[in-house]
Amino acid sequence: MKRVLLTLTFAALLTQCYWLTAAKDRRLDPAVVYAPTPAPDRIILTWAGDPATTQAVTWRTDTSVPEALAEIAEASDGPEFSLRARRVQAVTEPLRSDLNEAHYHSVNFTELKPGSLYCYRVGDGFNWSEWNQFRTAAREAAPLTFLYVGDAQNDLWQFWSRVIRLSVLTAPGARFIVHAGDLINKTGADAEWGEWHRAADWINRTIPSFPTPGNHEYGGGSLDNHWKPQFTLPENGLPELKETNYFVDIQGVRMVSLDSMRMQQEQIDWLDRTLASNPNRWTILTFHYPLYSSQKGRDMKKLRDLWQPVLDRHAVDLVLTGHDHNYARSNLQTGTNARSGKAGTVYVVSVSGPKMRQLTSDVWWERAAEDTQLFQVIRVDGERLHYESFTARGNLYDAFELRKQKGKANKLINLVPASSENRRAEGAEAFIP
Ligand SMILES: [Fe+2]
Repeated sequence: MKRVLLTLTFAALLTQCYWLTAAKDRRLDPAVVYAPTPAPDRIILTWAGDPATTQAVTWRTDTSVPEALAEIAEASDGPEFSLRARRVQAVTEPLRSDLNEAHYHSVNFTELKPGSLYCYRVGDGFNWSEWNQFRTAAREAAPLTFLYVGDAQNDLWQFWSRVIRLSVLTAPGARFIVHAGDLINKTGADAEWGEWHRAADWINRTIPSFPTPGNHEYGGGSLDNHWKPQFTLPENGLPELKETNYFVDIQGVRMVSLDSMRMQQEQIDWLDRTLASNPNRWTILTFHYPLYSSQKGRDMKKLRDLWQPVLDRHAVDLVLTGHDHNYARSNLQTGTNARSGKAGTVYVVSVSGPKMRQLTSDVWWERAAEDTQLFQVIRVDGERLHYESFTARGNLYDAFELRKQKGKANKLINLVPASSENRRAEGAEAFIP
């Protein structure tokens, strides 16, 4: 009897092994799935200049496309806009990734009218993308809505798609999306960038991205070779940190990306100058490493000591970060590092992908969460900034409002919903790579 049982168990194991192997064999090869073709893909809007009068677009083809073009026209209700389209020659840059060789093409549309709706398409004269629409920013301060997401990073196609899509359905009027670093997990992995682009697809063709790099874009110490070819970003930061340290002024807000991975000391002077000459009412910073960590054993004291004095000096309103794979949002005076209260900056850590980490026991936040994927909708209107954080199911999880007060620090009004704080969820350990 014992022998029969053993034989049966062995046979069952063999069958299981067979099916597992067969299933593995049927998985598509990433080199095939993410291969470039002559048709444009990975189309993404970013800014390289003034959002009121310029718009950059970048896309990918295979190497059979040596030169590329973009067309643009002011939108009309019918298709006749296409008859008025003007052509712009693209700049082409080759990229050899771990999976393939591709051409990345970019165009920076200039001399656009502020506050206007445009249609554009990209291609090579034979194969074209669809016509996509975007709106230029107003020249002056005006109500502005944008999205902010923390680390997308892992299992992008499977687990991040629903979050980025729901963010846009929740705030269809969003004018750009802040990605606070760790967009992907393995530096240089073309399949991961393929997933990132595919998850956001037409969103990236319609709403500009505002990305800052994280440690996972800096594997081995150098920036992911996709970053510069695939994002066309301002070159107004430190010359050594082109397209990772930069700023954009939009409708009364100065949006700044600091590269928290490199040259932290060297960016202090740049930041001081950039904030001293800021004519906008609002200042919002994004970088990957949080000055106030929400994960156990990750306190960034050195970086905080370097950067926070500048933030305080210029009364930065809001700091949007990632890295810690949970959620935490401060008050105006933060924990053991409470300051005079003169400046008053709100610090946020958030995560949009599925990698989850436990919170630190050093409570400095007004609202925090574990095992929760989130996206944030931020609205700036005159003297007020309204902030909302939603879970992947679309439930409001955190909210507050900042109000400008003449000659004084901002006033913060907490609007945290009555729901209890999300803590360790059953089965969440499975999502800690
Ligand atoms: Fe991360």
